[in-house]
Amino acid sequence: MTERERTFVAIKPDGVQRGLIGDIVKRFEQKGYKISAMKMLKVTDEQARAHYAEHEGKPFYPRLIKYIQSGPVVAMVVEGVNAVAGVRHLMGATKPDEADVGTIRADYAQEMGYNVVHGSDSVESAQREIKIYFNENEIYSGKSAYELGNEYLNVD
Ligand code: RTP
Ligand code: MG
Repeated sequence: MTERERTFVAIKPDGVQRGLIGDIVKRFEQKGYKISAMKMLKVTDEQARAHYAEHEGKPFYPRLIKYIQSGPVVAMVVEGVNAVAGVRHLMGATKPDEADVGTIRADYAQEMGYNVVHGSDSVESAQREIKIYFNENEIYSGKSAYELGNEYLNVD
């Protein structure tokens, strides 16, 4: 079944520093997803630990926490049909050299430790991660002009 979903996306510090914000956002926009919220921020210690709680204790964890705090991050709520899986598809595999050609990680990254983008791995993760970075009143929940199109067309 096709479900409209919200997912959490972040352009990681390497993506921002390399000037890839526009190119990455464009990929989600051209797919037709709605960007319901977006802001640039400095990830706090608390946000970093909450975001990557599932990786605590793993060898790469300290590095991961440092990496996500190494510069500004662009955080987004992206909405669309099966958006959680769809965004992961557009992002490509964690290891950029294994990512399918045409995906963000294949096109813009070389190393797993600098893979430019994050996307939630499930609807539950998305709900949890969105709350770490956004208040509900920062997320646009109304219909877009595109979705309202037919209603406008029917107006006399
Ligand atoms: P993300 O959470 O960033 O969207 O990436 P993912 O689901 O594809 O990968 P995940 O397993 O959740 O790992 C989170 C991030 O940690 C770094 N990582 N390094 N062995 C390693 O050195 C290692 N494993 C993971 C990557 O930056 C990965 O995106
Ligand atoms: Mg992950």
